[in-house]
Parts: sequence; structure tokens; C-alpha cells
Amino acid sequence: MASGQAKDLKRSIQALKAHWKSGAPKNMRTTFADDPKRFSRYSLQLDDLLLDWSKCLVNDDTLSLLADLAKAASVEARRDAMFAGKPINNTEGRAVLHVALRNRSGKPIKVDGEDVMPGIKEVLDRMAAFSNGLRSGAIKGAKNKPITDVVNIGIGGSDLGPAMATLAMSPYHDGPKLHFVSNIDGAHIADTLAGLDPATTLIIIASKTFTTIETMTNARTARKWIADALGEKAVGQHFAAVSTALDKVDAFGIPADRIFGFWDWVGGRYSIWSAIGLPLMIAIGPEDFGRFLDGAHAMDEHFRKAALPKNLPMMLGLVGYWHRAISGYTSRAVIPYDQRLSRLPAYLQQLDMESNGKGVTVDGKPVSGPTGPVVWGEPGTNGQHAFFQLLHQGTDTIPVEFIVAAKGHEPHLDNQHEMLLANCLAQSEALMKGRTLEEAKAQLAAKDLPKSEVKRIAPHRVFTGNRPSITIVHDKLDPYALGRLIALYEHRVFVEAQLFGINAFDQWGVELGKELATELLPVVSGEVKPKDKDASTQGLVAHLRKRRGK
Ligand code: F6P
Repeated sequence: MASGQAKDLKRSIQALKAHWKSGAPKNMRTTFADDPKRFSRYSLQLDDLLLDWSKCLVNDDTLSLLADLAKAASVEARRDAMFAGKPINNTEGRAVLHVALRNRSGKPIKVDGEDVMPGIKEVLDRMAAFSNGLRSGAIKGAKNKPITDVVNIGIGGSDLGPAMATLAMSPYHDGPKLHFVSNIDGAHIADTLAGLDPATTLIIIASKTFTTIETMTNARTARKWIADALGEKAVGQHFAAVSTALDKVDAFGIPADRIFGFWDWVGGRYSIWSAIGLPLMIAIGPEDFGRFLDGAHAMDEHFRKAALPKNLPMMLGLVGYWHRAISGYTSRAVIPYDQRLSRLPAYLQQLDMESNGKGVTVDGKPVSGPTGPVVWGEPGTNGQHAFFQLLHQGTDTIPVEFIVAAKGHEPHLDNQHEMLLANCLAQSEALMKGRTLEEAKAQLAAKDLPKSEVKRIAPHRVFTGNRPSITIVHDKLDPYALGRLIALYEHRVFVEAQLFGINAFDQWGVELGKELATELLPVVSGEVKPKDKDASTQGLVAHLRKRRGK
């Protein structure tokens, strides 16, 4: 980074820190009371998608200082470099082009001078033909029976995306039933296969590298399950694979017409739009899968073209940065008020934490401030009866991101949807407003409690409030809205990464544990004595071996 840019960045960050201490709003209640236009000033809409950050401690000065920072960090230039196929993943020397996978513009996107769009179209067409064959029953298993169940074996980005989206899109399912196996724990595959008939089951092995130990182990277990039941020759008819390592898939015995490729410029956690989305396409059909891509493309176009103050991913990223790096909040809760988005927090955990959980800058220097927050969550209203106590009265401030649809998919249960909406709004209002000691006392006094009891109980019923939240509303969770929502979050992670000054697209931090697990396997199984291990690891190995009777 040029020294001039480094100075601008430092100056912008210092200005933001000073503003947090003095100029930024201190009290949301009074800020709302003073400014009746606060909602319209601090919310944005793209078609039916609304992003409301008015319940955060920001004002016009905050946003203008954040915009200065974005400029100093060259966020827009970096964004353009990503869309142009430049190798912005500098530690792996790769382009970052998940946006090409949903490029519906008909325009070319080039990597090293070559248009990637024809290859993307070819894979999408093959996925569609394969999905349609399964969905219509034209593609059958070895016993000439139609496929009723599809098991996706993958982990991380090769599982979370399709698993989350397939659940989210359940009102659109009209194909075979989908199942997902990820964990190396044999319980996962055992429980999944237990209810299935090998003769009517297709297994998809999804792995970008085709080396991931969990996936390859589960794949071998599934292969044996098929071969034992139907014979070795049946394997080809009951497997498909999604990978960038086509040679390795071939060696597993999967026929070429059932191998769906993708490219090294697609990161695992950004791969749902590629052939990794095959399970989703099988469940909802190619047309709805196309709508899913359309939604993401609409967000891409918006992100690419909208000026900063009107740009949803930019604003979400800037406010996210404000919370993490300037206000010092260490985590963010994502609470979809949508049962079908119950896997979204886990999906966003990988997207955000694997991207922005970094300690060095793009230049390999230690970062000078915080990077990505802990991301966690559960659907509302369930979370309200579990961890919301801490969100409201705990000693940490945790910004919450509420996601909700104006309309549900169950018109006959619209009263329940209204209750869901009321709960979602109530939580953000309570976090913002809180309840003062006077209010708590007045409420208790109205219940005719003795004065001493009012005094004793009231402090426990105080809510400090002033706790930030962001609300995201779309009309209905359909394929288009889901694609658009995920793309919004992807670009937000991108924006925050540029502000942190890190590379969001590698994940070296997962390597060490993998290496040590490989080293420890023969130790745990007893083939090798633990040596050069710390006392804790040695003690644990000895305990486990004893308890396992080995
Ligand atoms: O855990 C690291 C990781 O490489 C993720 O980034 C990735 O999504 C996951 O493992 C699965 O990798 P693969 O698709 O190569 O099996």
C-alpha cells in the first residue's frame, strides 16, 4: 500500500474514533425523539428489499466519515477489480468471480483474457438436464427405479450453502427429497442413510478440492453402502460429483457425464451459485434456480452501480465496520424471523468468519485494529426464549440483524405471520428504547405492589436500551429474494474486508488443525506413540485409549 494511502486511512480511522467519543449520537431514544425523519434518512430500499439502520448510533457525520474511509480504502476500485476478474485474492493469485456465476447480463467476464461465461453456461445447462432427468424420473437407479432421495456429501461451503438454501426454499420443492451429510462423525451418515433405500438414492459428492477428509471418508462409506446393496457395478448410476478436481473424481469411479465442474476463482463459501448448488436445483428445478441467480445478479448490479450513500451492501458494510472497529462490539447476532432461514446464521458464520477472521493485512503485516466479528444466531422467535435475555440486559452490547418477510407462504396462517412480525419489531424496539428505572417503578406501582417491593424489584426490570439493530425486510422469501439476500451479505463481507485491509478470499487459518488431525489419527488409533506432544494432548490420548479399551 502506498504511504499516502496509508496516511489517509489512518487519518480517517482516527476521525471516526474521535467522532465516536464526541459527535456520534449517544442516546437512541432522544435521537429518535429529536428527528422524526430518522427512519427515512437511515434506511434504503432496492425494489421490495428494505435495509433499516436507523436504530444504530449514527448520524450524518458518522456516515460521511465512513464514506471518507471507504474512499481512502479504495473500496469502489477494489469492487470494480473484483467484477473485472482481476486476481484480488493475492495470497492464492486468483480472481474472485462468484459474481460471474450469476451474471445474467449476457456480457462477457474475462479471466486472463478469456471469457468465463460460455463455460458457466455449459455447466448450468448440464446441471439443468441432469436435474430434470431426476425430477421427471427419466434418470433411474440401477434397479430401474426412479430416484426419490438425494444425499449431498460435502462440508463447509460444499454443504452450508446448498443445505441452507434448500431448507429456505422448501415451499418450492417439487423434486426428490434432499438430505445433507457433512460431519466426519459417523452418526451423521448413519442416521441419514438409515431411512433410505439404496435403489432409489443418489449420492452427490461435493468437494471443491476432492481431498477434504470428512467428505472423502463419508463418500467411501456411502459408496460401500451402495455397492453392498446393489453391487459394485451400480456405483456409477448412484453417484454424481461436483468439484474443480476432475481427475480425482474420475478416479473415484464416477462417470464423466455426472461430474459437474467449477473453477478455482470460486471460493468454497461463495460457491452456492456454481454446480455446488446442484442439490438446490434438483429440489426446486432449473427455472426457480434461475430466479435465485437473477436475485443475486440484481444485487450485483446494484452494488456495482449505485452511488455509495444509496448502495445497500456498502451501507451494511460501513455500519458493520462502525460497530466492530470503532464501537468495539465483538460479535453480531443474525436473527432471521423465518424458520426456513434457520441455517442462515450458520451459513453467514462461514461466509463472514472464514472471510474476515484474519490477523494480517493484504500486505502480510499485522492488522492495526480489529477484524471480523463473531457471527452467530438462531431464528426468532425461538431465540427470544433462549439468549435474548443477554442481548437485552447482559453487559456486552451485541448489534442484532433482524431479517423478516412481509408475507409468509401460508396464507391460512397469516395471523401467525402477523405475530411473527410483531415480535420482530418488538425486539428491535426494546433493544433501542429499553426501560428506565422510573418506568419500571411506575409499572410495578400500577400493580399495587408495596413500595419496598417496587424498590427491590425495579432495578431487575430495567433495560438499558440503546442497543443497536439493523432490520432487513423483503416481501416474501422466494428464490429471487433469497439470491438477493445472500449476495447482499457477500458484498457486505467484501466491503468490511476492504476497510479492515485484509484478503477476504483465502482461509489459511483452517490448515493447522487439519494437519494436526492427520498427524493425530495414528496416535488415537494406537499405531503410533504420542511424541513431541504437550502434556494435555498426551493425557487426553491416554484417557481416550483407556476408555475405548485400547
Ligand atoms: O474448511 C476449509 C474449507 O476449505 C472451506 O473453505 C471449504 O468450504 C471447505 O473446507 C470444504 O472444502 P472442499 O469443498 O474442497 O471439500
